[in-house]
Amino acid sequence: MIDVAVAVAFHVLAIVLWIGGAGFATLALLPALRRLPDPAQRIATFEAIESRFAPVARAAILLAGATGLYMAFRLNIWSWFTSLRTWWMGAMLVVWIIFAVLLFVLEPFFLHHRFIAHAKSAPDATFRKAEWLHWVLLIISLITILGAVAGTHGLLLG
Ligand code: HEM
Repeated sequence: MIDVAVAVAFHVLAIVLWIGGAGFATLALLPALRRLPDPAQRIATFEAIESRFAPVARAAILLAGATGLYMAFRLNIWSWFTSLRTWWMGAMLVVWIIFAVLLFVLEPFFLHHRFIAHAKSAPDATFRKAEWLHWVLLIISLITILGAVAGTHGLLLG
């Protein structure tokens, strides 16, 4: 099954790029921005960096989803999505859906404008909230990655 090996390789590549970027934003970028004294500079720096990484993250999400679905189809493991024993399959789908809705729908159509408006009127609270949201997303993503790698390599519940 060479095609499945290629799919898993690209799947993991996409995850590394995408969740790695989320980790950088959570652990380095947002805390550093929150400490900048000038709110206008915080917003400008955030926008300059975010606008560069958002297309990369969107492409990585599409690649992860396409390769993941291809593997599920080829291995015919659809039932794993609903089994507690392979909880990480369901978790992967949930994480994917959350990020896809955030980056393809909420962020471009609602969140971006709201974030900038709130960051101007209440910069500290807005950046703290953004950091908190990133922490939640990063933690569920990392738990999913741990579960997926351990589960794929034989560590199953029950
Ligand atoms: C539509 C969404 C997704 C689908 C359909 C999907 C599907 C799959 C499938 C079928 C496998 C291979 C299982 C096996 O070989 O037994 C896999 C592996 C994996 N997935 Fe996903 N996945 C999705 C999203 C994600 C997300 C969002 C993450 C990370 C947060 C993720 C991380 C991983 C990891 C780390 C592996 C294990 C690779 C290995 O060690 O071999 N996947 N995924």
